[in-house]
Amino acid sequence: MSGDATGMTAPDGWPGQLWLEGRTIIHLKQEQERPTHMPRGPAKNTGQGFLNPAMAPARTRSVLLLADALENDWLVTGEKPIRVLDALCATGVRVRRWRNEIPANLQQRLRISANDLDEFALNWTRISHITHPPEVIVEQEFEDDRHNRIPSGEIINGIHIQQLDARVAMMESAFQWVDLDPFGSPVSFLDSALQCLSRSGVLEVTATDTAALTGSSPSSMARRYGAKGLVDIYAHDDAVRILLGLIATSAARLDKKIKPILALFDGHHVRVSVQLKTSKEGASEITQNMGWRVRGEDEPYRFVTHPNTDQLENASGPMWIGPLWDAEIAGRMSEEKAIQMCSPSLAQLQQMRASGLVWDDEDIEYSQRELRRSVRYIADAADLMSRDHLLINLDSLPKWAGTGGAPKMEKIIAALQQLNFAAARLPDLEPVFVTDAAFADVIKIVQQLWTSNN
Ligand SMILES: C[S@@+](CC[C@H](N)C(=O)[O-])C[C@H]1O[C@@H](n2cnc3c(N)ncnc32)[C@H](O)[C@@H]1O
Repeated sequence: MSGDATGMTAPDGWPGQLWLEGRTIIHLKQEQERPTHMPRGPAKNTGQGFLNPAMAPARTRSVLLLADALENDWLVTGEKPIRVLDALCATGVRVRRWRNEIPANLQQRLRISANDLDEFALNWTRISHITHPPEVIVEQEFEDDRHNRIPSGEIINGIHIQQLDARVAMMESAFQWVDLDPFGSPVSFLDSALQCLSRSGVLEVTATDTAALTGSSPSSMARRYGAKGLVDIYAHDDAVRILLGLIATSAARLDKKIKPILALFDGHHVRVSVQLKTSKEGASEITQNMGWRVRGEDEPYRFVTHPNTDQLENASGPMWIGPLWDAEIAGRMSEEKAIQMCSPSLAQLQQMRASGLVWDDEDIEYSQRELRRSVRYIADAADLMSRDHLLINLDSLPKWAGTGGAPKMEKIIAALQQLNFAAARLPDLEPVFVTDAAFADVIKIVQQLWTSNN
């Protein structure tokens, strides 16, 4: 640690190098490689204070979702505040982005808490937030915890920063919005998160234990998620649904029901955002939304409540088989919105450059592309993902249709829409689309398109 102009003792390695995520300046450790825009997988972990740039799109969506809850009053009504916790905040990038990028007129309604056990990471959070304060500094005050005590920690520029085991932080105070972004599996934090949420709340969960969630590590999957997997083209969708299944069943035990808002397999992690409400009746309805995916001989798959003995070999589950997104909320998550909320103005960029950010025209262009890609395809697929749909991987179609290859995805989607079916591409590294057409209709279209083009 060494002295610094902010008045606090700077952590070793400060100030590192400057980088821009959304429109928030962040400090990366000097030894961390300068990120490329939109990296695909986890960067090399450089230890304490490491920031994973591959999570930037998930953080962007988190900014948009929280802003949407405030703008559209779907979590709390009127002018009431929302108490938000990033339970494992590391260097505080997400909480700082919430404070910097959510529109100024909504900031007064946010009470933000950031928690982590790692002192180095929290010091990095503190000094970053003091060095680059948000445009609007909210006079956030301590609010008594569940035991009418003042919580530990301190409030810096509108963020309450705390150093506790995340489970203790969540058991001590109640929140309406909790973000869980651990290393690996979120399982050990889930119950405390569900218990600390108010009667109506939002839980956002990241899981990087994709080997367990996709079934490529069957024993971890069975232990952590109580499920059986099949490693095939539906493994990513299974991973999302298996995590949602665990959240839904854990919530039901606490008389809470879930409603997924957005749930994605994003490269090397699963990220789900769900709304929770306390309701015994709602929680009891969980049985309608839990089931298994059974692969078939004349269709790619179908969801069933329980597979029979013959189906078990080709089945994965149990998992959430209900809707995955909220049509209205996800429908507002457009590229324009991401740019409008998270991209800096030229004046802001000038100020940032004056404070040492090296950001040329290429960086501007690539970072805008990254913002757009963070939400690409979401708004268009929102309606279908909020109701029954069929998920199809383009590469699987030639086998089913008996064609030598697959037509372009845009052509299949356009042809389906012409026949008044809904169809949309999904945000996935794989070429995947969703539709409400029957599988037989999709195959007919694929055969027609293939024959007319070959
Ligand atoms: C993947 S990082 C969080 C990344 C962060 N949310 C972001 O967007 O940059 C996981 C963090 O969990 C913290 N952590 C691990 N176990 C913890 C615990 N029991 N309580 C609180 N923090 C913990 C680690 O110190 C680490 O900073």
